Amino acid sequence: MPTPSIKLSSGYDMPIVGFGLWKVNNDTCADQVYEAIKAGYRLFDGACDYGNEVESGQGVARAIKEGIVKREDLFIVSKLWNSFHDGDRVEPICRKQLADWGVDYFDLYIVHFPISLKYVDPSVRYPPSWDSEDGKLELGKATIQETWTAMESLVDKSLARSIGISNFSAQLLMDLLRYARVRPSTLQIEHHPYLTQTRLVNYAQKEGIAITAYSSFGPLSFIELNVKHAEKTPPLFGHATITTIAKKYGKTPAQVLLRWATQRNVAVIPKSNDPSRLAQNLDVVGFDLEAGELEAISSLDQGIRFNDPHSYDLPVTIF
Ligand SMILES: NC(=O)c1ccc[n+]([C@@H]2O[C@H](COP(=O)([O-])OP(=O)(O)OC[C@H]3O[C@@H](n4cnc5c(N)ncnc54)[C@H](OP(=O)(O)O)[C@@H]3O)[C@@H](O)[C@H]2O)c1
Repeated sequence: MPTPSIKLSSGYDMPIVGFGLWKVNNDTCADQVYEAIKAGYRLFDGACDYGNEVESGQGVARAIKEGIVKREDLFIVSKLWNSFHDGDRVEPICRKQLADWGVDYFDLYIVHFPISLKYVDPSVRYPPSWDSEDGKLELGKATIQETWTAMESLVDKSLARSIGISNFSAQLLMDLLRYARVRPSTLQIEHHPYLTQTRLVNYAQKEGIAITAYSSFGPLSFIELNVKHAEKTPPLFGHATITTIAKKYGKTPAQVLLRWATQRNVAVIPKSNDPSRLAQNLDVVGFDLEAGELEAISSLDQGIRFNDPHSYDLPVTIF
């Protein structure tokens, strides 16, 4: 069954389930993308700071060459890193990322964080990081309006079909909507039962902005990064609310967590290095949870956030 999609304000359709490319290793990435396309994935969520756009593009090229898909069947997402927020840096880095992928447009190009960092030339360091050339985090000077205006010109030049934002608060989104000539099509946020962000989700959806959830499995993705409170937070896969519902439907806890999101029209982009989990994560729209079950999962909310730039040496939290 083809994956259902969400109609974006740009007029394009975005698959509601995709494959996240963060922490996908360089040596396996091309094969994983290729296998994911064979398994039915059409959306790939990349970023320059994931450091695997060349390999992701190789996987795409192989699938296209073998006639498994055409470029227009895919929905390729990438992100603008913080050190490229200056208005004159946006287009050159987008063009470099397109060349790395081997495609001539992104379906969706997203401002990764609402944080401008000092520019570091890709010839000095690429993929980029939170640090400047001196090895310290240094803020840049671009306003979000300057960056967004440059993002809009990517649409004008057909380098991106849709543009979006990530890790924005409601206040920043309200401000952006005051001056946006091209509205953001999507807002990508950390979203799982321990961090439901219900008011932000409702506000954005009411404004016609699709929500994409990242880190749908909560603490799991952050344990390997040694995020201390991730190790201490009870895993969602073992939570009785989730396991009871999973048992009832004959699904895995992962599938229940993903269905909880997709049934509320929130897109998901789980990452897996394992072929059977990869297939399982795509099969998350063919069953429906009852309203009371959706509510029971939502009531696990404790406002616990795992991806906070404060952990990457930003002196202040942005949320
Ligand atoms: N915009 C942003 O700032 C931002 C931040 C974080 C992430 N993202 C995007 O969101 C994507 C997903 O988020 P994420 O990578 O943090 O984490 P995630 O998809 O929530 O979790 C990945 C973890 O779950 C495991 N896993 C995946 N499927 C499973 C299943 N069915 N059963 C059991 N375990 C499973 C994976 O292990 P295995 O690989 O071993 O299966 C991995 O340890 C990223 O890849 C990236 O594209 C965006």
